[in-house]
Amino acid sequence: MNKIFKSTLLLICITLFSKISFAGEGMWLPIFLKSLNEAEMQAMGMKLTAEDIYSVNQGSLKDAIVHFGGFCTSELISDQGLLLTNHHCGYGNIQSHTTLENNYIRDGFWAKSYKDELPNPGLFATFIVRIDEVTDQILEGVTKGMTEKERQSTIDKNIAALKKNFSLRSYEKYVVKPFFKGNQYFAFLTRTYNDVRLVGAPPESIGKFGSDTDNWVWPRHTGDFSLFRIYAGPDNLPADYSEDNVPFKPKHYLPISMDGVAQDDFTLVFGFPGRTNEYLPSYAIEQLVDVLNPSKIAIRDRALKIVDVEMRADPAVKIQYASKYARIANYWKKWIGESLGLKKTGGVQKKKNLEAEFMERVNNKREWTKKYGNLLSEFEVLYKEIEPYALTRDYYNEVVGRNIEIMRVAGYMRRLVNYYDENGEAGYNDYKGRLSGFLENFYKNYRPDIDQKVFASLMKMYVANAKLGVADVVKKEIFMLGTDDYAVLAKHKFFKSAIPFQEKLNAILEKSPEEAINLLKEDPLYKFSSALTAAYNDKAATKYSEISAQLNTLQRKYMAALMEVFPEKKFYPDANSTMRFTYGQVGGYTPRDAVTYTPVTYLEGVIEKYVPGDYEFDVPKKLIELYNTKDYGHYADKNGKLPICFIGTNHTTGGNSGSPAIDAHGNLIGLNFDRVWEGTMSDYNYDASICRNIMVDIRFVLFIIDKYAGASHLIKEMNLVHPKSKKAKASNPKKSAIPKSRD
Ligand code: ARG
Ligand code: ASP
Repeated sequence: MNKIFKSTLLLICITLFSKISFAGEGMWLPIFLKSLNEAEMQAMGMKLTAEDIYSVNQGSLKDAIVHFGGFCTSELISDQGLLLTNHHCGYGNIQSHTTLENNYIRDGFWAKSYKDELPNPGLFATFIVRIDEVTDQILEGVTKGMTEKERQSTIDKNIAALKKNFSLRSYEKYVVKPFFKGNQYFAFLTRTYNDVRLVGAPPESIGKFGSDTDNWVWPRHTGDFSLFRIYAGPDNLPADYSEDNVPFKPKHYLPISMDGVAQDDFTLVFGFPGRTNEYLPSYAIEQLVDVLNPSKIAIRDRALKIVDVEMRADPAVKIQYASKYARIANYWKKWIGESLGLKKTGGVQKKKNLEAEFMERVNNKREWTKKYGNLLSEFEVLYKEIEPYALTRDYYNEVVGRNIEIMRVAGYMRRLVNYYDENGEAGYNDYKGRLSGFLENFYKNYRPDIDQKVFASLMKMYVANAKLGVADVVKKEIFMLGTDDYAVLAKHKFFKSAIPFQEKLNAILEKSPEEAINLLKEDPLYKFSSALTAAYNDKAATKYSEISAQLNTLQRKYMAALMEVFPEKKFYPDANSTMRFTYGQVGGYTPRDAVTYTPVTYLEGVIEKYVPGDYEFDVPKKLIELYNTKDYGHYADKNGKLPICFIGTNHTTGGNSGSPAIDAHGNLIGLNFDRVWEGTMSDYNYDASICRNIMVDIRFVLFIIDKYAGASHLIKEMNLVHPKSKKAKASNPKKSAIPKSRD
C-alpha cells in the first residue's frame, strides 16, 4: 500500500467512524457537551444549546433528571415535583403497598389527591448539583514508578483532602469517581431527597405487558411507567418524611410534546447508565462470546427450565416464583442476545481491526513503540491466564451464589456466625435483626422441593464444568454416598438441614446466640456451603483478583494509549452510574435476512398479542373498550392511531431505565425502558446497524393516565406543548423548554 492510498483509507475510516458515532454511539458527560457534542447535535436537528442542557448557574435540562433509588432514572414533569419513571423501577414500591384487598400490582393505583400519595421508606431521589473535572488534584503525586498499591493510596489521600474543602449539608454528597479506566477523575456534588411518594401506576397488564416473553424484544407494547412525587420541607430542601412536607418545586421540569415522533427525529436520552465496557481488547470479547456467556447461559437455562415446569403445573408456585424467575431470565435473555449481536456484527473482528490499526500507528513512532508496543500481547497472555479463573468464578457465582436459592441463605448464616466471631453478641443480634425481614420474605416465596431439583441439576454441572478443583468437595460427597445420582445428594442435604425450613431455622435462631451458632455450624447445608466457598476462595478467587488487578492496570494504560494514538476520535467514558446523555435518531432496523422492523408500535399490536387470561398477554377490559370505540382523545397520531412504543439509536444500558427521551426542543417525547435483543451487545461494542433503545411513547403514558385511569388532575399539572405544529403554543421552543430558574 502506498502512503497516499493509506492516508485516503484512513480518512475514509475516520469519516465512517464519525458517521457511526453520528448515529448514536456514546454516553457523554454533560460538562463536555459544548466542546464535544453541541455542533454534531445541532447538525442532527437539535435546537438547544449546551447551556440549555447542562448549566451550573441557571436552570437547565439536567435539573429535571433524577437518579431514582440509585438504580434507575426518573424525570420531573410538573412544577409540583411529579416524577416519571418505569413501572419496573417502581415495582418494588408498588408491590410493598399491595395487599389482597388493594392489589395495586394487578389493578393499578391512582392517588386522587396529595393526601392519598403513599410514602416509601428507603426510597430516595438524587439530583446532580454540579460536575467538575478533578483529574489534576486526584493524580497529584502519582508517578510512573509507583506500585499499584502506592498509586491507589496516593489517590485515596487526594480524594480525602479534596473532600475536606467542602462543608456539606446532611443531604449533600461529594462523590469522586474514576473515568476512562482511571486516567481521569470527576467529582459530583449531589443532593438527595428521601420523601418520595407513589402517585400512580397502571395495572401490571399494561405496565408489564408481555412480561418475560417480550422482555428485550421489539416490537414491544408495554406501558412501562409509574408516577411518584418528591416532597420537601417548607424551604424546598430535603427533609425526612413528615405530614407537613410539601411537593417539591423544581428548578426545571420537562414540558411534554403532544406531537409524537417520526423516522429520523432527533432524540436525546439523559440519565444514569450503570456499567459498560467499550474498550476491551478482542481477547476479552472472544472469551465473553466463546467461554463465559455460554456457561452462564447454560446454567440459567437449566435452572429456569426446572422452575418453569413447576410454575406451569401449579398457580401457587407461579405467584411465588414469577418475580424471581423474571430476574434470572432478564440477564439470561440479555446474554443470549449479546452473544448473537456480537457474532452478527463481527464484534471480535472489529476489535481486531482496530488493534491492527493501533499497532500499525504504534510501530510507526518510536516513542509509542516503546510505551505501547507490548500492550496487546500482554493482554493476550493475561486473558489466557485468567480464563479458567474467570470461568470458575462465573460458575461459582451462578451456582452457589445465585441459582440455588438455599445456598444464598446458607451464605447469610455463615455471615451471621462471622459477626458473632468478630463482634460478639451485639454484632450477632444486629445482623440477625437485619436478616429477619429478608428471611420472612424468602420463605413466603420458597419451595424446598423445587430448589432441591435445581440443586441436584446445577451441582452436577458444577462438578462437570467448574475448573481448578473447586468442585472436588462435591465429588467427594457423591463418592461417599456411593451414587452418581445428584438427586440423592440433594435429598440427603436438604432432609438433614434446618435451613430450607422456616420453622426449623427459626427454632435455631430463637436460641441463645451461642447455642444457635453451635447448631448452625453442624448443619449439613451450612457445612457444605462453607466447604464450597473455602474451596473457591482458596483455589480460584485469590488468583482471579490478582490477575484481574493486573488487567485493570493494563486496561488503564491501553485506554490512555488509544486516546493518544487515535487523536481524531472522540472518546466517551464507560458508564459508571454517573449522569450521561446520549443522542440519536428514531429508526427501525433489520434483525435478520428479509426482516425489517419499523420504529413505532400501535394499540393494534396490543390487541394482536392479546391472550385472554394469560399472565403475560392479558389486556384490561377497559383498554379493549377504548380500542373498540377509538376513544383516544388528543393522544392519537394524525392517522388516528394510538402509538405505544418507539425505538431509536440512543446508546443506553441498565440504569437508563426511566430516562426521558427528549426532542430537539427539550420536550419529553418518551420514556426509555429497554433495548432490542440483538443490540444488547452495545455494552461492549455499539453498532448502529442493530443497537436500539426502546421507549414508551409519552402520548400512551398520558392516554393511560387520562383516558384509562381518569386521573386527569395529574395531566393538568403538566405542561403539554406542540412543537411541531405551526400554531405551536411555544413559539419560542427554547423558552418553553427551559423556563426561568426558580432559585
Ligand atoms: N430488560 C429490562 C431491563 O433490563 C426490563 C426488565 C424488567 N422486565 C422484566 N420482564 N424482567 O431492566
Ligand atoms: N431495562 C434496563 C434498565 O432497567 C435498560 C437497559 O438495559 O437497556 O435499566
